[in-house]
Amino acid sequence: MTDKYCVFGNPIGHSKSPIIHAAFARQTGEDIEYTAIVAPTDGFSDALDDFIASGGRGANVTVPFKQEAYQLATRLTPRAELAGAVNTLVFSNDEVIGDNTDGFGLLRDITVNLGYPIEGKRILLLGAGGAARGVVGPLLGEGHESLTIANRTVQRARSLMQRFAHLGHVTGCGYDELAGHAFDIVINATSASLNGTMPPLPEGIFAPSCLAYKMMYGLGDTPFWTFARKQSVGMISDGLGMLLEQAAESFYVWRGVRPDCAPVAAMLRDA
Ligand code: ATR
Repeated sequence: MTDKYCVFGNPIGHSKSPIIHAAFARQTGEDIEYTAIVAPTDGFSDALDDFIASGGRGANVTVPFKQEAYQLATRLTPRAELAGAVNTLVFSNDEVIGDNTDGFGLLRDITVNLGYPIEGKRILLLGAGGAARGVVGPLLGEGHESLTIANRTVQRARSLMQRFAHLGHVTGCGYDELAGHAFDIVINATSASLNGTMPPLPEGIFAPSCLAYKMMYGLGDTPFWTFARKQSVGMISDGLGMLLEQAAESFYVWRGVRPDCAPVAAMLRDA
């Protein structure tokens, strides 16, 4: 029997997850089917029930349902609890287990694929919405980093700061307060590029060998990307690695087998 998985979102048409998980299944020999399901914005819970009733074994959850998935889960992993959002669900013995692999995916891409150690680094996280919140815990997990969260609505950055203060050195501020400060890693977790804009960043925030990372893959040369290139950063990433690594971690959670992301990255870049 082929095991059924899916990704829920709205919209979901451009999701790369079905292609990625089909490639993982071929690579590992796991017998799974993975589809994309668009749920009505007020109908995620019903769509989830229908999928479970049809024999679904697990699911990914993307915008705008990650917080609702967190609420609906009957049990949460510690990393989902910390993130306050769920991107991976496991259906097992009447339980709906909520997990979050986003932060793991980002960290693994930065430290393993890009070979950029984060220990002791000055990290700047742009944005304080769901995407940003999902990665704060893992970014601080390494212990000795200093993390600055900058956001247009300063209060949201300060709330995140307070929520995660027990894990390490976190500062929350507005964009104007970044002037005169330089960082080793700058991660864009805002949704500004969806509107073709970027946060109002002062020049000089990128230290000479800085890694600039955009978390939203697939939007081409965004204003943040262009800005980072003009400032001659040391390394720049378009977020494909994070997309693949969070998917691989979900696959591992479901199947107990970790796929190799490199050939799938090459396949997607060729396409
Ligand atoms: P997500 O789950 O994708 O993070 P969200 O919770 O709506 O979505 O958060 C979007 C983030 O992008 C927020 O940090 C938002 O800033 P505000 O909290 O001030 O709204 C940020 N954002 C969106 N458009 C932006 C823009 N044009 N300039 C700067 N920040 C922007």
